[in-house]
Amino acid sequence: MKHQTALITGAGGGLGLEFARLLAEQGWNLVLAGRTEQKLAEAAQELENVTSGRVTYIQVDLSEAGSAQRLYSQVCESGELIELLINNAGVGVFGEHVKLPAEKLSAMLTLNIMNLTLLSQSFAADMKERGHGYLLNIASTASFQPVPLFSAYAASKSYVLHFSEALAKELEDYGVKVSCLCPGHTESNFFEQAGIADSEKGFFSPRARMKPGQVARVGLNAVFEGKLTVIPGFRNNALVFANRLTTRPLAAMISKRLTANP
Ligand SMILES: NC(=O)c1ccc[n+]([C@@H]2O[C@H](COP(=O)([O-])OP(=O)(O)OC[C@H]3O[C@@H](n4cnc5c(N)ncnc54)[C@H](OP(=O)(O)O)[C@@H]3O)[C@@H](O)[C@H]2O)c1
Repeated sequence: MKHQTALITGAGGGLGLEFARLLAEQGWNLVLAGRTEQKLAEAAQELENVTSGRVTYIQVDLSEAGSAQRLYSQVCESGELIELLINNAGVGVFGEHVKLPAEKLSAMLTLNIMNLTLLSQSFAADMKERGHGYLLNIASTASFQPVPLFSAYAASKSYVLHFSEALAKELEDYGVKVSCLCPGHTESNFFEQAGIADSEKGFFSPRARMKPGQVARVGLNAVFEGKLTVIPGFRNNALVFANRLTTRPLAAMISKRLTANP
């Protein structure tokens, strides 16, 4: 069997590790990229016992300018041909926009927008030349409306959604498929690192979160079924659909009520 290779960013935990687990079961070669070497090493050790393919990892801080180019060069030097790129690494910064540390915002936007864009460009160019390949970008249900107190994060995810949908059209005639997964609240480190304390009830309640394995499966099914934009879970689909029935100012007002009084 000829193994294909997937590159997953943010593969040391959360959704990224779940994508890796599912692909490992299918025998893919995996290149895990992420910020914390220890987490990547542990993930690689686990996945090597599952996949019949190779598992390697690259430590990279994708919130730094120039890191997407460094990651691309390292992958090329390793000789791996990436058939599937999953742009999963992403963070949120929660709070009143005017009070958020500028350096945190800048790092988030470099990670969520700039380096996702540059990685998509480099790897999609190679895929286009070969005449096949897949990209999966991780946006959010926050992509579909303004989200007060998550203003810049939600806007960064709107970017990912629109960028992915446009890129999919650019590449559709060249054998390269682009999909975009828009998760709602999902169990992971996302909330803790965004500065949202676990509360037992309300909008951010841990009880309303989907399992990351379920969410990752929806994303990978979209990739292999050639679907463009997918939203996992009935509740998330209902919320996004309800959004379409309202006006943008009303959506922003409802959103503010939910995030300001979680
Ligand atoms: N969880 C949710 O409710 C939710 C909802 C909608 C969308 N999403 C999106 O889903 C994606 C995955 O998030 P998650 O929920 O799995 O959260 P997570 O558990 O916090 O995972 C984020 C991953 O990204 C990596 N990462 C963070 N900063 C990085 C950097 N500067 N350079 C390289 N890697 C970095 C993390 O590595 P370290 O662990 O080493 O920091 C981790 O592996 C993100 O794009 C997020 O915006 C999540």
